Amino acid sequence: MTFTSAALNRIKPSPTLAMTTRTLELKRQGKDVIGLGAGEPDFDTPDFVKDAAIEAIRAGKTKYTNVDGTHELKEAIRAKFKRDNGLDYAVDQISVNVGGKHTLFNALVATVNPGDEVVIPAPYWVSYPDIVQFAGGTPVFVKAGVEQSFKMRPEQLEAAITPKTRWLILNSPSNPTGAAYTEAELKALGEVMKRHPHVWIMADDMYEHIVYDDFRFTTIAQVCPELYERTLTVNGVSKAYSMTGWRIGFAAGAPWLIKAMAKLQSQSTSNPCSIAQAAATAALNGPQDFLEERNAAFQRRRDLVVSMLNQINGVTCPKPEGAFYVYPEVSGLIGKKTPSGLVIENDEMLIGYLLDEFGVAAVHGTAFGLGPAFRVSYATSEEILEDACTRIQKACGDLR
Ligand SMILES: Cc1ncc(COP(=O)(O)O)c(C=O)c1O
Repeated sequence: MTFTSAALNRIKPSPTLAMTTRTLELKRQGKDVIGLGAGEPDFDTPDFVKDAAIEAIRAGKTKYTNVDGTHELKEAIRAKFKRDNGLDYAVDQISVNVGGKHTLFNALVATVNPGDEVVIPAPYWVSYPDIVQFAGGTPVFVKAGVEQSFKMRPEQLEAAITPKTRWLILNSPSNPTGAAYTEAELKALGEVMKRHPHVWIMADDMYEHIVYDDFRFTTIAQVCPELYERTLTVNGVSKAYSMTGWRIGFAAGAPWLIKAMAKLQSQSTSNPCSIAQAAATAALNGPQDFLEERNAAFQRRRDLVVSMLNQINGVTCPKPEGAFYVYPEVSGLIGKKTPSGLVIENDEMLIGYLLDEFGVAAVHGTAFGLGPAFRVSYATSEEILEDACTRIQKACGDLR
């Protein structure tokens, strides 16, 4: 007998984590598999951050903390928002949670009621719709495909908003496409939002620091001050500081919302790990120059992958502004046959073929709500990426 809740039955396991698990399992079996599925940097957590954690343990910072974050970390987050985004927040406007996913989970579960709608541009990060559905809400997708550089247009946003809309989720730079909104594009979306005061904005800025060329990151509360009051600006240390395993995410917004999130957290996880909080404090307060060095490495990898994938007939791979993903569109490959006679009917089959026959693990686009495409995470060495892209070229070249 099993007995699962209706809320649980509304969600599915994360497809990106499932691909990571499958890749690890194949590697354990001794198979030659290159994993391009994981959404985490291959760089190590900086030493000064690790030292701060060790110091915290020695200093006995091993007890419960304030439910939604230590005062020290909240001050570091306030300083970060001021420094990086020109945004002023008071301490009671800051929430610290067990990773960025938890931040988004808390905010949505604390505010969404059955019948509420949440506008999500597609392709989207896999967890948004599931968290909305877990909360009882309805995701409303806005299709932003390769032909519009994976960015939602103002008129599409306008058309998606109804009296039931509660939130708009904006993720820039984006997982899975790497696309990032310019200041002008954010302002244009902001103009629409100004006309709909019942809709709040969740700005997921997780990849803020990972941008290329001369792209200048901005966030909506900064460029549309009129929307500051109803924007929850979400960020974390996972991606920029290579701290995915430490599990610290945070958000800044209206005091009532921060309090609501703390209430939920007080009855679920309680405080995020005290040691991880000390490490995150050090990361935010410490030297930031290594971010630029790492970005230079990411940019070389992006350029390599984009160039190699665009050499394939039937594949269109735009060059993204940020994050460490590319999202090649593959409609030209659908309907073709593998050498063993299998017809590639969709992107999921393409991904299965790449993994089974060529040992390359990526994630199919329909998992992110818009295909046919797949997501490549290029957070690995140029040597490995070159090997992987050569395999993808061969695999696609073998299709007839
Ligand atoms: C767009 C986006 N938001 C939030 C998160 C969550 O990050 P964390 O690992 O801190 O929970 C991720 C992680 O993949 C992400 O890609």
